[in-house]
Amino acid sequence: MTRKTALIAGSTGLIGRELLQDLLDGKEYDNVVAIVRRPLGIQHRKLEEKIVDFDKLGEDNDIFAVDDVFCCLGTTIKKAKTKEAMWKIDVDYPVAIAKLASSKGAKKFLLVSSMNADPHSQIFYSKMKGRLEEKIKKIPFESVAIFRPSLLLGERQEFRLGERTAAAIFTKVSFLFAGPFKKYKAIEGKTVASAMYKAAQQAKSGITVYPSEQIQELGS
Ligand SMILES: NC(=O)c1ccc[n+]([C@@H]2O[C@H](COP(=O)([O-])OP(=O)(O)OC[C@H]3O[C@@H](n4cnc5c(N)ncnc54)[C@H](OP(=O)(O)O)[C@@H]3O)[C@@H](O)[C@H]2O)c1
Repeated sequence: MTRKTALIAGSTGLIGRELLQDLLDGKEYDNVVAIVRRPLGIQHRKLEEKIVDFDKLGEDNDIFAVDDVFCCLGTTIKKAKTKEAMWKIDVDYPVAIAKLASSKGAKKFLLVSSMNADPHSQIFYSKMKGRLEEKIKKIPFESVAIFRPSLLLGERQEFRLGERTAAAIFTKVSFLFAGPFKKYKAIEGKTVASAMYKAAQQAKSGITVYPSEQIQELGS
């Protein structure tokens, strides 16, 4: 059986590091290309680590000649400091990666977006994710899968007070997230990663959007 090559962006993040492990452990991929801005600090026979300048992604476009692309990039306004800088990381980099991969013949693009992504939202974050989705949907792939998780749970290397507090509250009142409110239930980063991995193995063509409750079902 011919196995495939995956490319992952954001493999040092909460979702990305779990997904990288799934890609390395799974039998579907022979090669896993991780584009990073700092060393991952792990070695694996399938892993091809590429330290790149994300502002100059087109310089080595052979990297993007892969089958499936997984994009888990993103930042926070606290880290990025300005909306423009955040937009560059959350929108411009994923779009650049998608365009390069599409031009090199990649078949599938799997993107982490967010619950409430809406290009017309008055809220900057939701609008940014909505605009990202719009742009990605226009880039030709056999299959595009967009994941819209709710609040993410999991161990982070950095401390995020707002997220920590929200996670504690969400976990305490998780019984409230039933029926129509299921989509608001917080979700583990590793569940999102697992759903992305599984979705990539399905023979779905066209654009599929996964709300948080479907991510939960698929990834569990
Ligand atoms: N937090 C939530 O509750 C939540 C909810 C729904 C959706 N989301 C979205 O889900 C996605 C993944 O979230 P996450 O929490 O897994 O992300 P994360 O832990 O913050 O990781 C983000 C990834 O993006 C990379 N990155 C950030 N800035 C970069 C830059 N300037 N150049 C290159 N790479 C850069 C990071 O690399 P470095 O390690 O090098 O910084 C890391 O690999 C994000 O798009 C986020 O908006 C988050």
